[in-house]
Amino acid sequence: MTPKKNRLLQHIGKPSVFIISLLPLISLFWLAWSDQLGANPVETLTHRTGDWSLRFLLLTLAVTPLRRLTGWNGLQRYRRMLGLFAFFYVGLHFSVYLVFDHFFDGSAILADIAKRPYITAGFAAFLLLIPLAVTSTNGMIKRLGRNWQRLHRLIYGIGILGVLHYLWLVKADIREPLLYAGILAGLLGYRLWRRYNTMKSV
Ligand code: HEM
Repeated sequence: MTPKKNRLLQHIGKPSVFIISLLPLISLFWLAWSDQLGANPVETLTHRTGDWSLRFLLLTLAVTPLRRLTGWNGLQRYRRMLGLFAFFYVGLHFSVYLVFDHFFDGSAILADIAKRPYITAGFAAFLLLIPLAVTSTNGMIKRLGRNWQRLHRLIYGIGILGVLHYLWLVKADIREPLLYAGILAGLLGYRLWRRYNTMKSV
């Protein structure tokens, strides 16, 4: 890429990714405002926010492999924003569950987490995302040093929990969760393959 194109991308890249990442939220507002959330609005909200949570998680995990495969190092600057959007959509997803499914009933939520494995997996993924979001600032990256990288490897486990959550909650047609599981397996498999190859060449 020419330096001129690179400078242009630096200016418009992040604001564009930010606006595009807000589109799922805007579309939900639009559907709610125009009364198009369907017969069961809470279910629609839960499903849409759940889908986008998983998509942003996978997009975040895709940045490094794509950067390595294409040699486009500039991709790296979008990783943090994509990860924070994953957290944002999971937060919305959980808020819908908290407010509309259980109306802040803490004991009912705890019972649900204990009883239903897919809720246990989803909730664990949500909790694990919190320290990653909190430590995503430049100051925290500096302060934590090498431990920052170690901590942020939690993202792999979060991806697995997110996919398990989806696989466990569907009752009949598992094609869509399987597709996400396949993408995740590819993204994690690529990392393992690279690790194995670098160890072999040492
Ligand atoms: C990283 C965390 C999470 C991810 C990636 C995620 C993702 C998803 C996905 C993809 C769906 C299915 C959407 C569809 O059918 O189109 C879903 C549904 C759902 N999620 Fe999550 N979720 C997460 C965390 C949570 C948490 C913390 C809760 C609540 C404690 C939760 C509760 C639910 C519920 C109740 C459903 C609907 C189940 C049904 O229709 O029977 N999720 N989630």
